[in-house]
Amino acid sequence: MGLVEISEFSVEGWRDPRFAAERARLCCERLERGEILLLRDFPIISQEERDFLTGVRQTASSFIKNISYDSQAGRLRGVARRGIDVQALKRALTGYADRVNALAAQLLAPYAGALQVDLTSFRPIEERGRNLRGRSRNDLIHIDSFPTRPARGRRILRFFTNVHPSEPRVWITSETLAAIAPRMALDAGLADCAKPDGLARLKTVARGALRPLGIKLRERSPYDRFMLRFHDYLKANAMFQRDCRKDFHEFPPGATWIVFTDMVPHAVLSGQYALEHTYFVPVSAMVTPENSPLRILESIARSPLA
Ligand code: SIN
Ligand code: FE
Repeated sequence: MGLVEISEFSVEGWRDPRFAAERARLCCERLERGEILLLRDFPIISQEERDFLTGVRQTASSFIKNISYDSQAGRLRGVARRGIDVQALKRALTGYADRVNALAAQLLAPYAGALQVDLTSFRPIEERGRNLRGRSRNDLIHIDSFPTRPARGRRILRFFTNVHPSEPRVWITSETLAAIAPRMALDAGLADCAKPDGLARLKTVARGALRPLGIKLRERSPYDRFMLRFHDYLKANAMFQRDCRKDFHEFPPGATWIVFTDMVPHAVLSGQYALEHTYFVPVSAMVTPENSPLRILESIARSPLA
């Protein structure tokens, strides 16, 4: 799927304000079709923040993937090394999250008021040759689905920024979920996931019994069960990894790109120091809801999934 460079937008907003509403709607339509929007040099971090971030040394670990930050609760996770200035890191991540929020409100104006802020992350480790295990590997092509944050049909919209002063961040993308799901979703187990969960009654009883003890049992919608399964299925499918269509993208230093990662299969091959900010977006806020993975999968499964 294509990469679309947005050249008529700057910190002042759309170059011609008369077409702002139309342009913003087109951006949403393109994202929903599975295109990636690229802002080549939108100033979303300062030189001072870049210098600080590229000085962060994180121990490469096979179980901590990224430094993640809940910008609403001010909670930072995944700092695997002493000597990192945690307060400065929080300030840089808060600044990034705030500026992405302001950018999204204009660039993707049709979603304004509907964007649900999820986590912000910083990725200081070189991706080439990273020693992550099976399902955590990001060099295998996959769609995103979060085991600990159920989407229940909501979209996963992500903003990335390459903070590296000189190296690109290199991705492969492939045909969208809209194209591959009709061929692959049933083989990946969609019918099984769409069936009422056989353990559902037992889980309801267990949930009631465990609640007073402060223990919460996770509840997964059929949609989340399938999307997690599809994520794993794509990563484990050697034939898909080898034969699928591959589009290579080099995101230059300073670039910001935006993509629905639940729709666009992707992998990162190389690059170091990226920022990322995630939103959940309800299907009701889409300008073309029929292009959402939820609606596409429901039409294949012929049953509701959320
Ligand atoms: C991913 O979501 O697979 C990782 C992308 C990246 O870190 O560039
Ligand atoms: Fe991913």
